[in-house]
Amino acid sequence: MDAIRDFLLPPAKSTLAEQHDTLFWFVHGSSLILTIGLIAVLIYFVYKYRRKSEDEVTPLITHNSALEVTWSVIPLVLVLIVFGWGYQVFMNQTVVPDDAYEVNVTAQKWIWQFQYENGARSTGELHIPADRPIKLIMQSNDVIHSFFVPDYRLKQDVVPGRYTEMWFNAPEPGESIIFCTEYCGDGHSDMLGNVIVHEQEEFEDWLAENSGGGSQPEDLAPEEWGEQLAQEYACTTCHSTDGSQMTGPTWQGKFGSEQTLEDGSTVTVDENYIRESILEPSSKIVEGYPDVMNTYQGQLNDDQINAIIEYIKTLK
Ligand code: CUA
Repeated sequence: MDAIRDFLLPPAKSTLAEQHDTLFWFVHGSSLILTIGLIAVLIYFVYKYRRKSEDEVTPLITHNSALEVTWSVIPLVLVLIVFGWGYQVFMNQTVVPDDAYEVNVTAQKWIWQFQYENGARSTGELHIPADRPIKLIMQSNDVIHSFFVPDYRLKQDVVPGRYTEMWFNAPEPGESIIFCTEYCGDGHSDMLGNVIVHEQEEFEDWLAENSGGGSQPEDLAPEEWGEQLAQEYACTTCHSTDGSQMTGPTWQGKFGSEQTLEDGSTVTVDENYIRESILEPSSKIVEGYPDVMNTYQGQLNDDQINAIIEYIKTLK
């Protein structure tokens, strides 16, 4: 039975997921039993009441009160059970416990960014402690995205201009995939992330280590850090580094080159141009490319921008 469950649904890794699943199986189980029962009776009656001779007459039965009450009351009770039970699970999912640990989530084409209570940040990976209610406060910098963690059976739209919330409790350490489930442009299918559930102590360590967020790791050269950032911040979803054609201009061989802009003027790709393109992408669009990039103002600090520029310089 467990094997069938695991095959049909992703593993249930939150306290709410188990409640959702039990209700789900009740609704589907009772539907299945009713469907099979109805079809069996149907086939049996077709056989039993078939016409047996030429002069057979249909008995004119007008009604049967007992039967009619039965087939009205049973579905009514079933629907009331599903309603009451569903309401309960819905309220459990909607009302956030007071002691929840809060994480701010920002969606932007095509990355998930997380900010924690002590100022630590992460991109693409949501780090949380196990066995504790987590509340996500979510917003979007551009279009509507949707935050979906199948293992938690939770999905919530992330909308520009307003906050949406969701909460969950993952009792066991482990990892679960985050999907974006609202079509949001070219990179939609790559807008993935991971929830990483730590033991409480391990989580504290992670938080402490990352509270400095955005300074260069000691073991990396600037251009190596830049390469890492380019992936982390999903630059490489739109900009190739090997000359191949994607949504935006490739980075290969661009540094020091002359580019024609939309308005016909030309520009040399130097540190200033790259920096401006990261902070004000719409200001100098290269001719032939769409004006779709969002600003990274407030998301990448100067050190990070410098590291990315160093990386672009290495792509000859
Ligand atoms: Cu973000 Cu689809």
